[in-house]
Amino acid sequence: MPNPVTFCTNGPTFSDLIYGTWRLLDDDPRPTVEDLVERFELLLELGITTLDTAEIYGLYTVEAAIGEVFQARPDLRDRFQIVTKCGIDVPSDGKPNARLPHYNASRENIVACTEKSLQLLHTDRIDLLLVHRPDWFERASETAAGLTQLLTEGKILHAGVSNYLPGQFELLQYEMGERNLVTNQIEISLLHMDPLYDGTLAQLEQLYIRPMAWSPLAGGRLFDPENEAGVRIRKCMDEMRDRYEGADDDALAFAWVMNHPSRPVSIIGTNKIDRIKSQAKAGDIQMDRQDWYALWSAAKGHPIP
Ligand SMILES: NC(=O)c1ccc[n+]([C@@H]2O[C@H](COP(=O)([O-])OP(=O)(O)OC[C@H]3O[C@@H](n4cnc5c(N)ncnc54)[C@H](OP(=O)(O)O)[C@@H]3O)[C@@H](O)[C@H]2O)c1
Repeated sequence: MPNPVTFCTNGPTFSDLIYGTWRLLDDDPRPTVEDLVERFELLLELGITTLDTAEIYGLYTVEAAIGEVFQARPDLRDRFQIVTKCGIDVPSDGKPNARLPHYNASRENIVACTEKSLQLLHTDRIDLLLVHRPDWFERASETAAGLTQLLTEGKILHAGVSNYLPGQFELLQYEMGERNLVTNQIEISLLHMDPLYDGTLAQLEQLYIRPMAWSPLAGGRLFDPENEAGVRIRKCMDEMRDRYEGADDDALAFAWVMNHPSRPVSIIGTNKIDRIKSQAKAGDIQMDRQDWYALWSAAKGHPIP
């Protein structure tokens, strides 16, 4: 069962499993508003009260689809916390001025994107706004000015980042002054362990900030029979499953992420109801140290050094 967690001092309280909407409209046929209302109600029943989205998801169409759900069922808005992200501009109807894909975390763009997100999502506030990726062509002081303006105006309740390395996080936090960045949403899974080694998780643990983990199942690659590491990992899971009340592979993979000492809050990305239910159990799994290392070793294909 997902549990409410507070990200850091003065940070937001969200469910420790969050529903991600990157792939929300990918199914064929595309889900109707009624389908999405049903799915959102299931999330609430399961205790998943936080939605993760982004301006760019569905090539700038997913926020509007979520907004249609809230328009149809205004009571649902206040029962969820909304995380959205800004700052990736890709040529499309949604970005007529983009000649090629690029990042834009300028003050003007952050403010304009967020005002558009508020309209599309049919809400008067974003619970947490993340800068989607570090913009190498922007001064951190400008990005901080955009976030601070939105916080001051009450359009966003909290600010954070995604895919930032420790130095980038430290610089932006410095420029934010007293306003604290409440999380860094990063890719973590058995098939993507960089944050274990590059200081990202260590920094967040030191600051008492909960990370957010995206693609905890490596975008589904964990289940690809051609993926040798995935095959080894699932074999290893078979050997430990009995110790975790028969938990499914996906729940164990989420648990591997969530049992890291920085306690990442993890984002569910499946569109399948049964898989949402299975993954929602991950928060209750207390993984044994040696099982955690067994999965690390299975992923790497060798024992610890
Ligand atoms: N900040 C960022 O830069 C960033 C980047 C990427 C994602 N995100 C966020 O993170 C969320 C989760 O990412 P993700 O969707 O990549 O998560 P994920 O859980 O790693 O991957 C989900 C994919 O795996 C498949 N899958 C799930 N369980 C499976 C199973 N048991 N067997 C086979 N396939 C399975 C799903 O297909 P089915 O739908 O068919 O189950 C779906 O295609 C996104 O929705 C988004 O909100 C953030």
